[in-house]
Amino acid sequence: MKQFSFRENELYCEEVPVRELTEEFGTPLYVYSRTELLDNFRSLDSLLQGTDHVTCYALKANSNPALLKSLADDGAGADVVSAGELSLALQAGFSPDKIVFAGVGKREDEIEYALRERIHCLNAESVQELQLISLVALRLQTGAPVALRINPNIDADSHPYISTGLKQHKFGIDGEKALETFQFAASLPNLEVKGVHTHIGSQIRKSEPFLAAADFLADLVKRLRESGILITQLDIGGGFGVGYENALEHEGLPRNEQGDPNAPDAPEILRAMLPTLQQTGCSLWVEPGRSIVASAGILLTRVLYTKEQGPKKFVIVDAGMNDLLRPSLYNAYHQIVPARIETYEHEPVDIVGPVCETGDFFARDRLLSKVKQRDILAIMTAGAYGFVNVSNYNGRLHPAEVLVNGDRVRVVRQRQTLEELLK
Ligand SMILES: Cc1ncc(COP(=O)(O)O)c(C=O)c1O
Repeated sequence: MKQFSFRENELYCEEVPVRELTEEFGTPLYVYSRTELLDNFRSLDSLLQGTDHVTCYALKANSNPALLKSLADDGAGADVVSAGELSLALQAGFSPDKIVFAGVGKREDEIEYALRERIHCLNAESVQELQLISLVALRLQTGAPVALRINPNIDADSHPYISTGLKQHKFGIDGEKALETFQFAASLPNLEVKGVHTHIGSQIRKSEPFLAAADFLADLVKRLRESGILITQLDIGGGFGVGYENALEHEGLPRNEQGDPNAPDAPEILRAMLPTLQQTGCSLWVEPGRSIVASAGILLTRVLYTKEQGPKKFVIVDAGMNDLLRPSLYNAYHQIVPARIETYEHEPVDIVGPVCETGDFFARDRLLSKVKQRDILAIMTAGAYGFVNVSNYNGRLHPAEVLVNGDRVRVVRQRQTLEELLK
């Protein structure tokens, strides 16, 4: 999170004090750093220079059009999971031959749209899907490039809701049936079987599951080639975890001693996988989402009230679970800091939103710098799986989003209005 830092006691995004942004644009407010976004993309993509590769940004992490355009202009590909994401990717300028389409439940119209747009490939997840892709391709009298998403039965050791690579998960084709499914796919008319795809989960903080996936893929490519199926492309998915603890360090902030400060980051994990992947001679496709965009965004919110109740002190803020769902959904941790550190004193509080759910919280029993009414808090590392999950629950309006680039600020999504709520 290099582009968010305290200067003296004031939080900046690049060259801009974030409190100024709240005065101009209100709260809740997502703030993104363009430099951080592109640095994250480049640090991963540059590792693959010299190898035939495409780094496909996973739009599901954050699909703001301005962020997408920045990544597309920088040479990224796109990983999409719906007609909506495909449309956003094309609008943002991603080249169709750098777009892959994943997802366990693609509809016929989505398959047709992808084939008409001539995207690089569909990552198919079942026999029935392969049959449908073949039928649609026949009808359109075109070829259908596909990769088969194989479920390698690897434990990602992440939150159960975002682990995807075990047998009992809905994703992909059973690893034990991989060979026969590839043979079946090769027999279907108009399918062009290009590659193997895996994605074992998200927010994975260890190298081992990825290394196991790389071994699995290399072995599968070998077995497929032995049986006459020439695979030329490996797609290793995304899933590289990020550190949510201590995103900002300052002598006035409490430290979180949980989490592993030495956990490997995305470039470190990819570097470790590369020798195994490269020896297959396949082109390499990677689909990072979180590791590109999480640290590039924060959510700013204003303290509405504080109150003591029973054993608790509550800090009630103007953002809710409808603005950032991760804490309510997965009990996910985000560091929360005052946008201006006024005191070095801390106290344990629950930071909660205005939504009528007890599950509407950002932190519970959390040591926070002492804050007062109208102070601005920054919820850190909120760029991924943040705005994409906003809702109008409780009739609350979608927040605005701004993009900072040096000392320049651009509104990249207007705050929703009451009129828009009625549409
Ligand atoms: C197929 C696929 N690729 C890539 C991603 C991106 O994962 P992450 O944001 O963890 O990098 C996901 C996320 O669930 C996914 O399902």
